[in-house]
Amino acid sequence: MDPRLSVIDKRLSKIKKIIAVASGKGGVGKSLVASSLALNLSRKGNKVGLLDLDLYGPSSHIILGVKNYKFPEEEKGIIPPKIDGINFISIVYYTEDKPSPFRGIDISNIIIEILAITQWGELDFLVIDMPPGIGDETLDVIRLIKKSEFLIVTTPSIVSMGAVNKLLRILKELNLPIIGIIENMKMKKSNFVRNCIFDLNLDYLGDISFDKDIEESIGHTDKLLKSNFMNDFDKIIKKFI
Ligand SMILES: Nc1ncnc2c1ncn2[C@@H]1O[C@H](COP(=O)(O)OP(=O)(O)O)[C@@H](O)[C@H]1O
Ligand SMILES: [Mg+2]
Repeated sequence: MDPRLSVIDKRLSKIKKIIAVASGKGGVGKSLVASSLALNLSRKGNKVGLLDLDLYGPSSHIILGVKNYKFPEEEKGIIPPKIDGINFISIVYYTEDKPSPFRGIDISNIIIEILAITQWGELDFLVIDMPPGIGDETLDVIRLIKKSEFLIVTTPSIVSMGAVNKLLRILKELNLPIIGIIENMKMKKSNFVRNCIFDLNLDYLGDISFDKDIEESIGHTDKLLKSNFMNDFDKIIKKFI
């Protein structure tokens, strides 16, 4: 057995709630939702961690405006650097944000390593920015981070819901906690997603409108906090926190 597995539970033991932001689909806003959730909860006085597990396409560091990719301080493990009050860990601290192709086997190894060495300490929330789909990372989160609850993001698109549906069915089959579903980038009135979620007997948490100005907030947490995106999202956060 991998000896690192036995320390993971201990490393996560002082975290009250772990929220994995996931979707069957890419490009639906998972990273923006995960970073904004961490930021929102941190500004409300909570101790928050953010773990970017999208190893092929990490984005949270861009959204939060991380400038320094120096390997974090070590003290019987890795201490997450504080970005705007958020304890933040991403693969970019290992790769210095250089392109980094990984094979499937590397992915599990990296995730185990990160979980085994990161000293999160006491946290109210750990938010995980997940990659799309039901690949190694998702299976590893299910296997290794047993307390995870899933916050699902979709767009109001038939294509997106097709992929999200598969993830939801798997999570349901495995009896894993699903906080609910957020409909992101809404552009016009439609009950399509709401009805799909109702049919699955899950919680529809609400929608976030397409924010044409969001690009100006990327990398600037002060602007992100005041964005229309955050205004919509804050109403949703209040439903599940
Ligand atoms: N509500 C929204 N309005 C406008 N743009 C959005 C919205 N949500 C996300 N985006 C943008 O869509 C793109 C994909 O979002 P991202 O969070 O990277 O998706 P994912 O992590 O699911 O791949 C980014 O450029 C992001 O800024
Ligand atoms: Mg992403």
